[in-house]
Amino acid sequence: MSIQTQILDTSDAVAQHAARTIATHIQNKPNVILGLATGSTPVKTYAELVCLHREENLDFSKVTTFNLDEYWGLDGDHDQSYRYFMQHHLFDHINIRPWNTHVPNGKAVDATLEGEAYEAQIRACGGVDLWLIGIGQNGHIAFNEPGSDMDSLTRRIDLLADTIEANARFFENSADVPQQAITVGVGTIFAAKKVLLLATGEGKAEAIKNATQGPIGSQCPASFLQNHPDCTFLIDQEAATQISAS
Ligand code: PGA
Repeated sequence: MSIQTQILDTSDAVAQHAARTIATHIQNKPNVILGLATGSTPVKTYAELVCLHREENLDFSKVTTFNLDEYWGLDGDHDQSYRYFMQHHLFDHINIRPWNTHVPNGKAVDATLEGEAYEAQIRACGGVDLWLIGIGQNGHIAFNEPGSDMDSLTRRIDLLADTIEANARFFENSADVPQQAITVGVGTIFAAKKVLLLATGEGKAEAIKNATQGPIGSQCPASFLQNHPDCTFLIDQEAATQISAS
């Protein structure tokens, strides 16, 4: 088992390839369970999926989705919440049924119960077929910051200073960035039948090297994917500058 690394020329090519991969999963299994990510990286992929829906009738009517994470303390109407992001970039533009879309509730009364309920919902659907994820510069997947264990599940987590700093670009003031999030665990992602990690730009090059070629451990949560039976890293040339192709 090892990560399949596929290097494409540009971030546009990464998005097109990722969208085609997702489309193929939907065509092969119309009631596919997709795991989805937020952040800058998947924005173009979602735009491609919207195009495939409009131009090629890609049908999301039976698709179920689970998102990776949500800021703790933000409700879905907040324009920096990940629920809002998903509506804006994808859900509002395709024929997915709103009740089939799941994002952890950042305003849940009890984070532990919300985490358990989220895991139970994923299990009740039969598990995630394909999880689309990104990677943080510090090697996090979802908000599983360094220190997260392989068997971690959905839970509330403290964000590290570098993550808060990286995400401050989306907020008016860095003081507005929530300090906590509710995130699926490494174990939740690992349980997916297939994991597709996207990374673009030079800023991700070191994380990609650590994840694919570094030691496996919680210092770089993405490195646990080296043991996943079906994991592909789809990256552009810039994100590949510190690795040799496999
Ligand atoms: P990004 O975030 O796509 O905005 O770079 C990825 C991540 O932090 O997981």
